Amino acid sequence: MDDPTLKLSDSRTGKSFDIPISNSTVRAMDLRQIKEDPEEFGMMTYDPGYTNTASCTSRITYIDGDKGILRYRGYPIEKLAETCTHTEVCYLLLYGELPTQSELNNWDLEIKRHTMVHENVKKFMDGFLYDAHPMGMIVSTVAALSTLYRDAKNIQSRTNRRLQQLRLISKMPTIAAYAYRHSLGLPYVYPDPDLSYTENFMNMLWRRAEPKFQPNAVLAKALDVLFILHADHEQNCSTSTMRTITSANADPYIGVSGAAGALYGPLHGGANEAVLTMLDEIGSMEKIPNFIKEVKEGERRLMGFGHRVYKNYDPRAQIIKGIADQVFEVTGKNPKIELARELERIALEDDYFIKRRLYPNVDFYSGIIYEAMGFSPEMFTVLFAIGRTVGWLAHWEEFMEDPERRIARPRQLYLGSSERDFVEIDARLGKMQSERP
Ligand code: ACO
Repeated sequence: MDDPTLKLSDSRTGKSFDIPISNSTVRAMDLRQIKEDPEEFGMMTYDPGYTNTASCTSRITYIDGDKGILRYRGYPIEKLAETCTHTEVCYLLLYGELPTQSELNNWDLEIKRHTMVHENVKKFMDGFLYDAHPMGMIVSTVAALSTLYRDAKNIQSRTNRRLQQLRLISKMPTIAAYAYRHSLGLPYVYPDPDLSYTENFMNMLWRRAEPKFQPNAVLAKALDVLFILHADHEQNCSTSTMRTITSANADPYIGVSGAAGALYGPLHGGANEAVLTMLDEIGSMEKIPNFIKEVKEGERRLMGFGHRVYKNYDPRAQIIKGIADQVFEVTGKNPKIELARELERIALEDDYFIKRRLYPNVDFYSGIIYEAMGFSPEMFTVLFAIGRTVGWLAHWEEFMEDPERRIARPRQLYLGSSERDFVEIDARLGKMQSERP
């Protein structure tokens, strides 16, 4: 059979085109030859929000949004969450294969070696007000690491990139814990190498005067699973930001800082914080119908619902819902869980949500668990960022090795004025203020 093509005919010129199809995709540049006039630029696609544009090829994460499937490097998320540790999944995402036991031991040891941060980081932290949002502190502090690790500029060296990846994965929990302790006015706690990645994070967050922090095993496992569930999600807003920033050859600290900045937004990683705010506002079961009515009338959104890719139950939300009860056994029940379950029940039976295929996403239940563990809503996105750091870095690594790598630079469809005669300042009077931009 001939190579598959998409046959296009342009009614403006009567010309026909055979556009090659590969992996059910056509190359946008193949459309450029389609012109009405030889002088014109050529055809482009218009895709606000990139809803149907593949910006890269990738071999890291597979999602089937219709079926609710998520796999890292081919392995189902359910199996990884049940069996692996977060550091094991980090290795898988970065290196493409699950580690052997000795590889994992070495990897964990390497991570432990890099958990300390430069003492200057404490000074950066001290500069923030006590009520600064921890995501703001993290975005800024990670960017500041770029000034401490100037070798990170050597992005062409794979060995060097591996070192920066290790540093970022290792230091992210330390920076996050510093931000948390700063908000509470508590002294910073140094990493404890006897503990696992997630246990040590708990130690840096919650250790008080005791000589050795004893993490609760159930909470440590739950938090570790949450990190795994958040570790990667292909070309989401923050990962695309990471790729965009590093496409200009910026170092990975600047890239991760920018990606974390995108994650901070309430339509992305900030949604779990917004879910809690929403549940607080609703307050009680009787108020749910009125809230749903407001959502359907377009006055507000049901936060934690809907997803650009999943048009089915987000598999991560399913796993999180499952671990909620284990966490509540330790912490006591978060009363918001009943409210959330009722919201979900009503929404899933309602035509508005059914028609638009809106289901709970990863953020719907995660915040309730985090709150039960004692985190304030401001910390939720921080926890997301710790888990997602490896995803950003795996995409950076893949991008750096991509022979088709180019600086990210989308086109625009210019619909503004054509050339106008310049108006001198004295002659501009008389134009209505409302007509001005
Ligand atoms: N509540 C109510 N209506 C919704 C919601 C929601 N949460 N999400 C989408 N819709 C409606 C839209 O109003 C729109 O309706 P219309 O066709 O009548 O205009 C339709 O569903 C399609 O929505 P879009 O906004 O076009 O979908 P998009 O793919 O652009 O947005 C997004 C996806 C941003 C996640 C959206 O569903 C949303 O805002 N959800 C709430 C925020 C949230 O939970 N974000 C976390 C996402 S997961 C993550 O980032 C980790």
